[in-house]
Amino acid sequence: MADRVRAAFDAVPREGFLPRRARGRASYDGPIEIGHGQTNSQPWTVRQMLTLLDVRPGQHVLDVGAGSGWTTALLGHLVGPEGRVRGVEVVPELAEWGAANVAATGQSWATVEPAVPHVLGLPAHAPYDRVLVSAEPRALPQELVDEVADGGRMVIPVAGEMLLVVKENGEVGVTRHGHYRFVPLV
Ligand SMILES: C[S@@+](CC[C@H](N)C(=O)[O-])C[C@H]1O[C@@H](n2cnc3c(N)ncnc32)[C@H](O)[C@@H]1O
Repeated sequence: MADRVRAAFDAVPREGFLPRRARGRASYDGPIEIGHGQTNSQPWTVRQMLTLLDVRPGQHVLDVGAGSGWTTALLGHLVGPEGRVRGVEVVPELAEWGAANVAATGQSWATVEPAVPHVLGLPAHAPYDRVLVSAEPRALPQELVDEVADGGRMVIPVAGEMLLVVKENGEVGVTRHGHYRFVPLV
């Protein structure tokens, strides 16, 4: 899986998901501001999350907190043209910019849309084989667990810890994978 994630990073350079003034810092392994108090995530962290998520070609994936659209485009590369990635972003201006950044990669099967007020994720299109969450709630949101397909998995930072949530035969299993800090899930 690590090789496939590395190939996705090579295919989808971070530069295309940063404000013009920050593009020269794309190789910096830390979060970079994208406006509206939000960030393009640290590459090392994104790598860990995508490796844990174990995305397969052809899967249906939800990207919560799409921001710049970078993770949506990386996921698009991992699922390929037989798959479908839906990014959702709560800040309307970022949703528009992130959608344009993803469209510029030519991956028509990966899109970003604005969040529906008071709705977490995109339940209208659930279930998802994989759910990636790049903003942090204080507790695991049941609404997002409900959007994961049976046999599916979700990677989500909760209260400072990275969680891998796996659904198998209706049972939900949670394992912990280190400490991270994210912007809050609102
Ligand atoms: C770390 S940032 C962006 C990471 C992004 N995946 C990237 O590659 O640039 C997390 C994003 O989550 C968004 N966010 C926070 N709560 C959200 C929610 N309930 N639904 C959708 N997006 C949310 C923030 O506005 C922010 O843009």
